[in-house]
Amino acid sequence: MPRQILVTSALPYANGSIHLGHLVEYIQTDIWVRFQKMRGHDCRYMCADDTHGTAIMLRAEKEDITPETLIQRVWDEHTRDFAGFHISFDHYYSTHSEENRVLASKIYLALKDAGLIEVKTIAQLYDPVKNMFLPDRFIKGECPKCGAADQYGDNCEACGATYSPTDLKNPLSAISGATPVHRDSEHHFFKLGECEAFLREWTTSGTLQAEAANKMQEWFASGLSNWDISRDAPYFGFEIPGAPGKYFYVWLDAPVGYMASFARYAKDNGLDFDAWWGADSKAELVHFIGKDILYFHALFWPAMLKFSGYRLPSAIYAHGFLTVNGQKMSKSRGTFITAASYLEQGLNPEWLRYYYAAKLNGSMEDIDLNLDDFVARVNSDLVGKFINIASRTAGFIHKNFEGKLAEGVANLELIGEFQIAADAIAAHYEARDTAKALREIMALADRANQYVADEKPWELAKKPEAVYRLHEVCTVALNLFRLLTLYLKPVLPKLASEVESFLAIEPLAWSDAQTLLVRQRINPYNHLMTRIDPKAIDAMIDANKQNLEPTPAPAPVRHAEAQTHAAQPSAPVAETIGIDDFAKIDLRIARIAEAAHVEGADKLLRLTLDLGPLGTRQVFAGIKSAYAPEALVGRLTVMVANLAPRKMKFGMSEGMVLAASGDAPGLFILSPDSGAEPGMKVK
Ligand code: 2FM
Ligand code: ZN
Repeated sequence: MPRQILVTSALPYANGSIHLGHLVEYIQTDIWVRFQKMRGHDCRYMCADDTHGTAIMLRAEKEDITPETLIQRVWDEHTRDFAGFHISFDHYYSTHSEENRVLASKIYLALKDAGLIEVKTIAQLYDPVKNMFLPDRFIKGECPKCGAADQYGDNCEACGATYSPTDLKNPLSAISGATPVHRDSEHHFFKLGECEAFLREWTTSGTLQAEAANKMQEWFASGLSNWDISRDAPYFGFEIPGAPGKYFYVWLDAPVGYMASFARYAKDNGLDFDAWWGADSKAELVHFIGKDILYFHALFWPAMLKFSGYRLPSAIYAHGFLTVNGQKMSKSRGTFITAASYLEQGLNPEWLRYYYAAKLNGSMEDIDLNLDDFVARVNSDLVGKFINIASRTAGFIHKNFEGKLAEGVANLELIGEFQIAADAIAAHYEARDTAKALREIMALADRANQYVADEKPWELAKKPEAVYRLHEVCTVALNLFRLLTLYLKPVLPKLASEVESFLAIEPLAWSDAQTLLVRQRINPYNHLMTRIDPKAIDAMIDANKQNLEPTPAPAPVRHAEAQTHAAQPSAPVAETIGIDDFAKIDLRIARIAEAAHVEGADKLLRLTLDLGPLGTRQVFAGIKSAYAPEALVGRLTVMVANLAPRKMKFGMSEGMVLAASGDAPGLFILSPDSGAEPGMKVK
């Protein structure tokens, strides 16, 4: 009986490029989907861009475009990159779709009816200049535990502490630089705690990998907190029904995007949505994800589905992270490699598909892309072993037998061994242990090569009396090659289709492993795959280095929206600007006419700056730790005179004083040599 299987990969954020880290998941899922389809199952692969949230809103603002324009542009890039790696989605949609709005609202209202939504007032940090509440990652300040400066609102990179942004000392908005204020707001919470009994049972029912199920036990032990699913305007997302000015948090509507993608696909293809998503659906629902988003998929998502009357996932398959050359992908080393840059260097996407497949074993372990090993492995396995079988035998069929295979095959025993392997290989694919599947396939390739080496068709071809044997040997070898192609087809779909054209056969299905190819007229052999040239790898690394140093790309955020800044490259100096950009900054000499403490401010001094003919300005400067006000009065310094005035808690700040600081403690305001006059331009 064919199975009905709805498969998803996590929805990538619509504010960054697809990189080789993302591709682990899409390649893993695509292999599994292609395998299921070859087995004759009714398998549908859904995905979409994850388009909502503060990061996307701010990025669009920065680029001076609407979020809709931004997400359309990224959708075009993402779908192009995925197609470049032969990822065969049946539908790739967007969470910013009407179907998603309707489904997310419906689920929310059902949870509300079930008494699982509560509204509570909470205090959060608010940016008074930007007029918005600040997500944790958009707040910086001193760690409440170790005092390290410049830490994000949710955890300290220096000591590892996690905390609430309201605990941060001397917080500043990473968006406007203003000091945030506490402000109350009503938030909507999903009462996850009340779903505990259901979740405890569900997470141990065999849906999760053992490692994931263990992780769940830790989460239960530390208690399930209710989940804040609302955000205040301004926010790019869906407004919550019945709650004007409140929006669904991006992670509420993101997984609903799986359903919405299918809803649109079902409508366009005449499928019954409820047969796949209804509470008593007979279909399987399989989510492929990274281990970092297990919490969302194994707790929030099943609870949302269960208590709003939908079906539950049948399986959640989490994979580990990608390292490159044994280390975290790094922009400065050039190992943060975008999908587009890989393809631009002319590297074959199937090389990477093969390498990832050779590493993935269905567990949550991290995998390493070692670039030397990548070159060696692909060249040896794919070109040296697999392609070699055809390239050493196909030519004789054309030269000596008018392109036609023999009437029957000798060595049925060898071919039989290849055929018997189909079940074991299928079991490995099913279990996502592609590493094992490829090991078995390559062991068979070794046997096929041994056969060709033993039979030496190139010598048979020299002896007229051996012509019959030559025909037999080449026919056997090409049958072995056909079976290897079939087994590799989920991993190497393009190559397989080229082999299908070469052998003049219909697309191979898994059941074709039990048939043979005889009396077949085949096409002339053209070389099917080249070796990797290590120079292309070096060029790709260089291209990614160059990409990053002058213009750090806006963060390609892979994980929670929260990580926008964490993903930023740590470039040694800021982005290069042109002379025209520099000319826009009006730097002036100023005399500090007055300096005073600001009541209630830990870091600020209020300065009155005299710009000579340009008048005076009030500036709040964060230099209290380094200077007593009286020591500053009368000094000359340098200020940015055309910075837009900023409303701060204590009054307007009409410019900025320049001061130097580094890793070592200390803060040093800049002063001109003697002779400079207030109001002079600094160039
Ligand atoms: O971690 C991420 O990249 C998220 N955009 C994944 C969302 S998956 C799903 F829930 F939509
Ligand atoms: Zn700390």
